[in-house]
Amino acid sequence: MLKQNIYILGIESSCDDTAASIIQNGKILSNIVASQKIHEAYGGVVPELASRAHQQNIVPVVYQALEKAKITKDQLHAIAFTRGPGLMGSLLVGASFAKSFAYGLGIPLIDVNHMQAHILAHFIDEEGFNKPPFPFLAMTISGGHTQIVKVNNYFDMEVIGETIDDAVGEAFDKSGKILGLGYPAGPIIDKFAKLGNSKAFQFTKPKVAGLNFSFSGLKTAILYFVQNETKKNPDFIQENLNDICASIQYTIIGILIDKLKLATKQTGIKHIAIGGGVSANSGIRQALKDGEQKFGWTTYVPKFEFTTDNAAMIAIVGYLKYLEGDFAKKDVMASARLKI
Ligand code: KG4
Ligand code: ZN
Repeated sequence: MLKQNIYILGIESSCDDTAASIIQNGKILSNIVASQKIHEAYGGVVPELASRAHQQNIVPVVYQALEKAKITKDQLHAIAFTRGPGLMGSLLVGASFAKSFAYGLGIPLIDVNHMQAHILAHFIDEEGFNKPPFPFLAMTISGGHTQIVKVNNYFDMEVIGETIDDAVGEAFDKSGKILGLGYPAGPIIDKFAKLGNSKAFQFTKPKVAGLNFSFSGLKTAILYFVQNETKKNPDFIQENLNDICASIQYTIIGILIDKLKLATKQTGIKHIAIGGGVSANSGIRQALKDGEQKFGWTTYVPKFEFTTDNAAMIAIVGYLKYLEGDFAKKDVMASARLKI
């Protein structure tokens, strides 16, 4: 029997990237992201500027996605969009566009939870990447999120741990700001850390019960440490940058791995899937590999373009929901604090 080709357009606009992607069944045909450079000058995302840039980018990005996929809008079966969580002004741009486009084309609209999408990105058909078996643990680590989720099935997920303050990417970015590095600082710290001694300086890990995380205390500890040392030696940062970065990265990775160890112990699940921009970190990747050897874990890291904020992950959720006939109501609203 010939399998019908289902084409879904995914739209993501929850933070500072305007993204559109076309999926054909489980396979991505195009994955376009317009990153907003404007925020670099501010050292963080400015919500008002983000919504304006989404407004400007959304139509060209969707057209590029269709063009790259070599399909026309009339071939689409449904439109999936990020309903939340995220910045309200940014979400509204994607939601309004998706509603109008779906209504105009007379096809179903599918609302997607951004945090579920980070996890379900593992189910995109991609050569060389295995899909985790249910149940598995998912750890989403990015500039906006830090969560450990027990994934029983595609849409049966339980958050078992999350940050009570900063996200892990923020911990990298804020540490970088203290050190006078650019934004986002995560990749820069990663680069210097490779050249440094991770045991050169010790930072205490926060004591947070259970599987929750906290990173704001670490940021303050780093700030006081740097202020103290530069008082004694104004060139302290320049002279020790590699070692400082290596020590910060080592501490952050230690916090993540400790929680993963506890999560595997509590749940008995040893399949661990990682997502979010921080999963690009070379130290995390190494620590996960070590975990396979030391603790018998099986770890899954998606292709890089599906880990940072992207619309391919929205499109795969759209496809999975389309198969179940799970469509959005006509009056669906964006939701800044949408939970898993
Ligand atoms: O997923 P993402 O692109 O956007 C969201 O925040 O949703 O993640 C961006 C975050 C930033 O905080 C950035 O500093 C961090 O991911 N990041 C890294 C690395 N690459 C990106 N952090 C540590 N090491 C990296 N190699
Ligand atoms: Zn995200």
